[in-house]
Amino acid sequence: MLFTEYHPRRETGFAPPGSARGDFFVRCTNHDLIMMLHIPGVLTPEQVSALRARLDQAPEWIDGRESVGAQGAQVKRNRQLGEGTPLALELGQIVSGALMANPLFFAAVLPLRVLAPYFNAYAGGEHYGLHVDGAIRAQRGGLPAVRADVSTTVFLSEPDEYDGGELEVVDLYGTHEVKLAAGDAIVYPSGSVHQVRPVTRGERVASFLWTQSMVRDDGKRAMLFGLDTHIQALRGEHGDSATTVGLTAHYHNLLRMWAEV
Ligand code: NI
Repeated sequence: MLFTEYHPRRETGFAPPGSARGDFFVRCTNHDLIMMLHIPGVLTPEQVSALRARLDQAPEWIDGRESVGAQGAQVKRNRQLGEGTPLALELGQIVSGALMANPLFFAAVLPLRVLAPYFNAYAGGEHYGLHVDGAIRAQRGGLPAVRADVSTTVFLSEPDEYDGGELEVVDLYGTHEVKLAAGDAIVYPSGSVHQVRPVTRGERVASFLWTQSMVRDDGKRAMLFGLDTHIQALRGEHGDSATTVGLTAHYHNLLRMWAEV
């Protein structure tokens, strides 16, 4: 399949996520490429409302420390929907289905395996201090374990519903604060150190999931996404030509070289 034909309406730019809709940034050093991507409108307002209504009535909220290791348990103070409950699985399918159908998510993440999404809530000072996500996640029901390559947070509360609650992702260049509209998603490398700041007013509800990518290396994946994006832009500006076909061949040959499926 041609990943480079997946996203006709992409907006691009090189700016921190949250500064404009659809922005992404790829940072290059000699050996590292780090990408965070803001994907607007993953969920429609109707989907967000329906999810929120179900979550607001859910009796299954539990202490978020149940799903983390010893280091995470020391810094995690929030609530989450019980893992593997019928409600979590049902609502999770709405979120993962929307992400998998989203051309931008697909092109950026190149998903191989997607774990069932989690749902979490923070209020009254709840927070999740600096931590790194575990590399390997077990799955229920005899399914293969998933290597967490890419983390995705889908915001389900509007930014004006709460104070604090920023997702902060730390990389070589400093700390990036992310607080997006309900229905929008942020995608970032699972290997980054990150935290959710204390929520000091209102409630922050979000969904969260891990993905194993066909392309394990963050830098290679970011380069493929950058190439894909520029091929799309070229095609939009000039239509198809021998040049765009040639570049598309390069994209696929790199993917062939790097993908594990
Ligand atoms: Ni985390």
